[in-house]
Amino acid sequence: ERVVVLAGGLSNERQVSLRSGTRVSAALRAAGVEVAVWDVDASLIDELAADPPQVVFPLLHGVAGEDGTVKEVLELLGVPYVGAAPGACRTAFDKAVAKEVLSRAGVATPASVTLPKAAFHDLGATAVMARVVERLGLPLFVKPRAGGSAFGVTRVERAEELPGALMTCFGHHDEALVERAVAGTEIAVAVADLGEGPRALPTVEIAADGVYDYAARYTAGAVRFHIPARVPAAVAEEAARVAVRAHQALGLRHLSRTDAIVDAAGGVWVLETNVAPGLTETSTFPLAVEAAGLDFGLFCRELAASAVP
Ligand code: DAL
Ligand code: MG
Repeated sequence: ERVVVLAGGLSNERQVSLRSGTRVSAALRAAGVEVAVWDVDASLIDELAADPPQVVFPLLHGVAGEDGTVKEVLELLGVPYVGAAPGACRTAFDKAVAKEVLSRAGVATPASVTLPKAAFHDLGATAVMARVVERLGLPLFVKPRAGGSAFGVTRVERAEELPGALMTCFGHHDEALVERAVAGTEIAVAVADLGEGPRALPTVEIAADGVYDYAARYTAGAVRFHIPARVPAAVAEEAARVAVRAHQALGLRHLSRTDAIVDAAGGVWVLETNVAPGLTETSTFPLAVEAAGLDFGLFCRELAASAVP
């Protein structure tokens, strides 16, 4: 086969990845590309070595997919692939490190602290939490330091909710990223970077009733999208500029999606930049591609053609 789509994997985002795989493989076929979908497991290296694909399109979300691990394997075997190099993936996938990189590049991200599970226990949970609330205020978001699809993420309105939120988070990761919740409009900015430099696609506004959690993300019709986002033109331009800058600062390639909040004053606060944005039926990236007047299948074909060894 010409293009091998890698999907599935063993992270908690396995189902999401399979859905991205289904959508992208169908789109590629419709665009006339020969494609096979491989479900990733421990035999991946042997399969790649036995029958090296011309191009690999990794659609793996979460640990061992989005953190650069599989890209390391592809580099080792000299197989061309779509997307960012392993080091850049590792940086972007670690929300705490990525926020530092973004801040240094002049991209605003909400104030946050990282809280390792061990420190939380050893230093006295009550004292630690009081300091966190004092420093960041309320409301807050508690998130696993790395991960996607809002797994383990809790919005905290009152200080009493913090212990439960941290426990939920520590069930997913040993470190929590506790972040100030910025009130405003939630947006996603897709960036396409196919040889002529990165460019932002139309901004997608996510109008969810409540938190944009796993159910809201992957249930058709659970949220309303507005494309372009209902923000002033100058703010949309700023969001586009910020997403391109984030893509560049993190050293990404081919595609990324920057998630952000636009506050009441029009300020753009970046939450994170995804190296493997969801490409499912309910994901925002394909919507942005189509809103830019591009056919999603042809766009995926271009991505595959841009693969680098
Ligand atoms: N982590 C999911 C796939 C996303 O960001 O779209
Ligand atoms: Mg994410």
